[in-house]
Amino acid sequence: MHAQLFDDDFAARPPRILAPGAVLVPDFLTLEQQRFLVERFREWAAGPVPARAARVGEHPMSVRTVCLGWHWRPGGYSRAAVDVNGQRVLPVPEWLVQLGRTALAAAEAVPNPADAAGNGLPTGTANGYAPDAVLANFYDAAASMGMHQDRDEPDLAPVVSVSLGDRCLFRFGNSETRNRPYQDIELSSGDLFVFGGPARLAYHGVVRVFPGTAPTGLGLDSGRINLTLRQTGLSDRERITP
Ligand code: SIN
Ligand code: MN
Repeated sequence: MHAQLFDDDFAARPPRILAPGAVLVPDFLTLEQQRFLVERFREWAAGPVPARAARVGEHPMSVRTVCLGWHWRPGGYSRAAVDVNGQRVLPVPEWLVQLGRTALAAAEAVPNPADAAGNGLPTGTANGYAPDAVLANFYDAAASMGMHQDRDEPDLAPVVSVSLGDRCLFRFGNSETRNRPYQDIELSSGDLFVFGGPARLAYHGVVRVFPGTAPTGLGLDSGRINLTLRQTGLSDRERITP
């Protein structure tokens, strides 16, 4: 009886393998952890480099981004936000590196009923995972993100993504084209999504945000925040500006 009660939620949104290497872990973060991350996002977005809409060619993205560790702009990374105000971005805090390790371990551990060999993520790598760039994106009700690959990182270690605030429709595709086949899933506040291994270069995007769907008590009245943690493989000695 009690087991039934407590299992209901889990059964409604079990972990899911979208493709080899692409793993969804719903409700990975507690509400308290989510609230903490929302507060940190506000601090990061206040500077020294403010959250900004990156320009892709002529057009500003509808998403506003603030970065930690390395500053991303379309086509490359640099330590300083050369397309914003020239300031160096904040470092990735150690607790966030640790969160990345815990998250990757949780995704690696999701069993694959269809394949005893696993879910496509490399196993046993979580302890050595060293994300050195974090992109924190804010989506207002009208924001979206077109289909793209995360391919500005020389290291193809998994990308760890956590979502906060309003739900969104997330599109996860294939590695060859930005078109079909793709799968549409909803990402809710607290969900973890990891893509690595054979899924690391899959096209993906955010089709739309569903306003007013954030959990109460989160401290974010409207909008969605997504954090992606990346282990770039970049070194300060390399020339990394495009
Ligand atoms: C991204 O692709 O960088 C962001 C994905 C998301 O917002 O879920
Ligand atoms: Mn991406």
